[in-house]
Amino acid sequence: MNKNPVGVFDSGLGGLSTVRAIKKLLPNEDIIYFGDTGRVPYGTRSNETIESYTAQDIKFLRSFDCKMIAVACGTVSTVSRELIKGLPLPSTGILTPSAKAAALATKNGKIGIMGTSATINSGAFDKEIKSYNEKAEITSVACPLLVSLVESNWCGVDDDVTNPAVKRYLKPILENGCDTVILGCTHFPHLIPIIRNIAGEGVTLIDSGLEEAKYIKQYLDENDMRNAPDHKGEAKYFVSDRPQNFSSAAATLLGESIDNECSFIDIFKYIQEDLWTGKQ
Ligand code: DGL
Repeated sequence: MNKNPVGVFDSGLGGLSTVRAIKKLLPNEDIIYFGDTGRVPYGTRSNETIESYTAQDIKFLRSFDCKMIAVACGTVSTVSRELIKGLPLPSTGILTPSAKAAALATKNGKIGIMGTSATINSGAFDKEIKSYNEKAEITSVACPLLVSLVESNWCGVDDDVTNPAVKRYLKPILENGCDTVILGCTHFPHLIPIIRNIAGEGVTLIDSGLEEAKYIKQYLDENDMRNAPDHKGEAKYFVSDRPQNFSSAAATLLGESIDNECSFIDIFKYIQEDLWTGKQ
C-alpha cells in the first residue's frame, strides 16, 4: 500500500479528462493536479520550450512526494518522452496506453490521430502504433484551435463555433475511412459529444485520459501501490494563473465544484536544473 498522491499535469483544462477517469476507476487515490494555465497552449511551442515547462511542472509535483507522475498532456507525452522516461519515480503519459488501445480496437487498420501541432510533428504516435501493427494506415491531423475552444469552455454539443471546427479537422480522417480515432490531446475528450455526432457511431474514439487512467490503475495494482480501500480520495488543483477562470470551467467538465480546492502557484519558482536528482 502507498498513501502518497498521484501527480497529474497538463497545460490547462485538458488533463481533467485523466482526473475524471482516475476519480472513477481509483476512488481511493489522492490527486495533485497542476494546470499551467499561465502558459497554455503548449502544443504550438518549440520542443525546447515544452521540455523546459515539463521539467518545471514535474518539479512542482515532486514537492508533494507523489508516488507516480501522470503526464495528462499529449504534447508533453510525445515531445518530452525521453525526459519523462528518465524520471526516478513511476510515470506515464498518454502515448502508449492510447496507441495500444487504438491498435487493438481497429478492424480495418485505419487509424486517425487528432493532436496538437507539436504532437503531430513529433511522429511519436505513428511510431508507437506501428510498433503494435506495422501495416496500420495512419491519418494525422493537427487540431490546434480545439485547445483554445476547450479552454474557452465551448464544449456544448450544439456549440456553433466548435462544431464546424471539429468537422473541418475530422474531414481527412473520415475521408480516409478510419474506423478508430485517437483523441491524442487530453483537451479533446471534453469534445466527445461533438466528435461522436460528426464521426458517427461506427467510429471508435480513443479517450486518451481514460486510457491513461486504466494504465495507472493497472500499474498501482501490479505494484501494490494503491491507497487504503477505506480512504476517500481527494483532489487538489493548482494553476499558474487566476484560479477562478480554471475552477468555473473545471466544474462543468468534472461535474463538481472545485472552488475551495484550487489555488495559484508561481511555477517560475520551480527551476528545472536539479529536477532528476531532486536536490534543492
Ligand atoms: N492537453 C495538451 C495535450 O494533450 C496540451 C494542449 C496545448 O496546450 O496545446 O496536448
